Amino acid sequence: MQRRYLVAGNWKMNGSYAANSALIAGLKQATAEFGAIEMLVCPPAVYLESVGRELADSRLLLGAQNLCEQVQAGAFTGEILGAMLTEVGCRYVIVGHSERRALYGEDDARVAAKFAAAQAAGLVPILCVGETLGEREAGVTEKVLARQLDAVIQACGIAALTHSVLAYEPVWAIGTGRTASPEQAQAVHAFLRGEIAKRDAIIADSLRILYGGSVKADNAAELFAMGDVDGGLIGGAALKAADFLAICSAAQRLGK
Ligand code: PGA
Repeated sequence: MQRRYLVAGNWKMNGSYAANSALIAGLKQATAEFGAIEMLVCPPAVYLESVGRELADSRLLLGAQNLCEQVQAGAFTGEILGAMLTEVGCRYVIVGHSERRALYGEDDARVAAKFAAAQAAGLVPILCVGETLGEREAGVTEKVLARQLDAVIQACGIAALTHSVLAYEPVWAIGTGRTASPEQAQAVHAFLRGEIAKRDAIIADSLRILYGGSVKADNAAELFAMGDVDGGLIGGAALKAADFLAICSAAQRLGK
């Protein structure tokens, strides 16, 4: 199956009106060249609307970094409903990023509820899974990833994965400059696809699995060339137009 590459920029808690405009202007210059891939930017929630406006008439899509697990408006101070993200133009939302899991106490059940809430609002969830360095060294990487994935499958059903994206983000590679080797990434991606194929081979074959964790212009091509790597979730390198575009170029050249 030919899966369309997705290159997603996770801006994390970075940005300002001025910085966002400069970044978007840089990205928009080149987007016509990237016809074979999907490109996504995920700014902080407070900037979604203004960034969305600047993206109008470009090929760049808008995504959010987080959402509330509730599916109806109500008394949830500080939270953001999926329908609000849809209304401001988001197509995707990241759920279960390791920083949300580690720093904000999101457990597997909450991540699964957020996945369901995203789909209920018409958003495509980008479900992040990944092991810590300690877990990798203890040889429990597959066990941890299977647990994180199963929580969503149990809660939402295997069919829900049809309208989703999976992102493998080894925690030890995020923001550390230490990337998984292409072989390490491929091994995990193949494992994840295999876990899904046990339940539904067609869904497994069409599901895009992104790699995230210190993807840069100089390592993107070798990662994206692996058979089960269908793009990237990019943090630090998504904040510079030239770097993000170079990563998009790597995907475009490989154009599955
Ligand atoms: P990084 O972040 O590219 O800066 O390692 C990736 C992520 O956390 O999504």
